[in-house]
Amino acid sequence: MFKIGNIEIKNNVVLAPMAGICNSAFRRIIKEMGCSLVYAEMVSDKGLIYNSKKTKDMLYVSDEERPIAQQIFGSDVDTFVEAAKMVEEIMKPDIIDINMGCPVPKVAIKSQAGAALLKSPEKIKEIVSAVVKAVHVPVTVKIRSGWDNDSINAPEVAKIIEEAGASAITIHGRTRSQGYSGKVDLDIIKKVKESVSIPVIANGDITDIESAKRTLEYTGCDAIMIGRGVLGNPWLMKEIITYLNSGKIIPKPSYKEKIEMCFHHLDYLLEIKSEKVAVLEMRGHASWYIKGLPGAQKIKTEIFKATTSIELKNILSNYLKVLDNGI
Ligand SMILES: Cc1cc2nc3c(=O)[nH]c(=O)nc-3n(C[C@H](O)[C@H](O)[C@H](O)COP(=O)(O)O)c2cc1C
Repeated sequence: MFKIGNIEIKNNVVLAPMAGICNSAFRRIIKEMGCSLVYAEMVSDKGLIYNSKKTKDMLYVSDEERPIAQQIFGSDVDTFVEAAKMVEEIMKPDIIDINMGCPVPKVAIKSQAGAALLKSPEKIKEIVSAVVKAVHVPVTVKIRSGWDNDSINAPEVAKIIEEAGASAITIHGRTRSQGYSGKVDLDIIKKVKESVSIPVIANGDITDIESAKRTLEYTGCDAIMIGRGVLGNPWLMKEIITYLNSGKIIPKPSYKEKIEMCFHHLDYLLEIKSEKVAVLEMRGHASWYIKGLPGAQKIKTEIFKATTSIELKNILSNYLKVLDNGI
């Protein structure tokens, strides 16, 4: 257990914010796997301020997902503050997170948001302290190790963030220019942990029990955050949490559980999205869930042609029958 401000987080495994993935449906599944804190996908400060329906719809949360952190990205103090107040009022998240790590050009270059903020320590201080003052919930910040290899500054940035009043920091141990290439740098994560006294959450390349254990032990961080590792494999959360709590290794999911999860995930998506959008999103998730099963490649092609939930469910039911008969 650890605490972010006054919020008790019941274990030390956290879901990473992932744009286009971490909506209410996915977060509910991850919570069902025992995850203690979920980060919602980022929302744009300007999207909220200009009343974009699409952005506001992203703030939907169901009670079973709590505690939840909502992440905001932006580049100006005023719009950040305004957006944070709106998020607090509309969604009532338990935590508000500030994105200082997004590497995609649309965010980090065109809007000078996300990881671009790492280049302006003064601005970091201004944004974090203004948001902390403006809302009543704890504020966290998610950073990368720096902008590029010549400007690795996460430990200094972390100190500024702490002094500005943030309640925790997540560090993804890669620079902006690395994107997702190379390996996560656990040394820089360790240095961040050593440079502040607020909780630090370590992030990057956690895909199994071994990497979870190594990251926690090597960095001394308070918690770990998992992103890509749970795509198509939400069971990883349960596997890691069970291991960290008891040393026990639970069995891997069967093909039946994987296909049943597709139905479960689709049903949750249908509760929050139009059928068209739910099916489009589910095409990607379903192909991740079945990855590696016998004949999955052929089924994936069929899945990507499905346009209705019935079609998608039929493809998956037939596939389950084929697997039951042992192809
Ligand atoms: C599809 C995708 C979307 C992401 N969206 C966000 C986001 O909205 N906000 C953010 O801070 N990081 C985002 N990230 C980065 C992840 O939160 C995480 O830092 C990164 O994937 C490294 O962790 P991992 O190795 O466990 O995936 C995204 C990553 C992926 C793969």
